[in-house]
Amino acid sequence: MTAKTKVGILGSGDVGKQLGRGFARHGYEVMLGSRDPKKLAEWKKEVGAGASTGSFADAARHGEIVILATSGAGTESALDLAGPANFAGKLVLDATNPLDFSRGMPPGLLVGTTDSLSERVQRKLPQAHVVKCFNTVGNVRMIDPKFKEGNPPMMICGNDAAAKKRTEEVLKSLGWPAALDIGNLEGARWLEALVPLWVRTAQALGTFEHAFAPVR
Ligand SMILES: NC(=O)c1ccc[n+]([C@@H]2O[C@H](COP(=O)([O-])OP(=O)(O)OC[C@H]3O[C@@H](n4cnc5c(N)ncnc54)[C@H](OP(=O)(O)O)[C@@H]3O)[C@@H](O)[C@H]2O)c1
Repeated sequence: MTAKTKVGILGSGDVGKQLGRGFARHGYEVMLGSRDPKKLAEWKKEVGAGASTGSFADAARHGEIVILATSGAGTESALDLAGPANFAGKLVLDATNPLDFSRGMPPGLLVGTTDSLSERVQRKLPQAHVVKCFNTVGNVRMIDPKFKEGNPPMMICGNDAAAKKRTEEVLKSLGWPAALDIGNLEGARWLEALVPLWVRTAQALGTFEHAFAPVR
């Protein structure tokens, strides 16, 4: 499943670059997308084989799996630039968070809890299978996680059972023990709402390398 699966990543920030490095290391063919792909020349050189760069539309076309790693406020315009038709029938892993930094740190939420950015993404991409994934962990722990107290499952949600099953296969190929499926995409309201709490927890712990884990 991993060998040569094509992954398109929309986003040139820490998350896009980190996921791109990790997916390439695990044998996927990655294209990183940006409004300004020229600025990704260093990243492309660093990652080497299995890495390419392009526009948001190029990356969306390239991917059998497409990952969203754009800023919360910019995500919907990034999808417009990418062209919604380029996502039809594809698994879309949504790592974004609609964070509101207008009052500084720690952030609040742009969308609130009666909607979510993932649901907005799904409405823009009705033919895609959107799964919320990666948004509740820091980028340095997204691939081959090594948490001192043991690796938790990745919390995900989405409306399509087959897409979530495939997501779990992908996560396992990247070193995650399992996915914890919290239900349909409406659950993204609560996965996104965890992130302002995650930042406050980071401030209390003095590290951004933590994750939430359900314990029994
Ligand atoms: N940082 C983390 O550890 C972490 C962890 C979990 C989830 N997340 C979430 O992952 C996403 C990416 O985070 P990040 O820190 O890597 O980068 P970021 O600075 O939040 O986002 C950078 C990306 O957003 C795009 N962008 C910004 N404004 C845009 C606009 N108006 N229209 C279209 N595209 C726009 C940029 O495009 P260009 O390439 O054209 O500049 C760039 O690709 C965010 O939603 C964040 O909340 C972050």
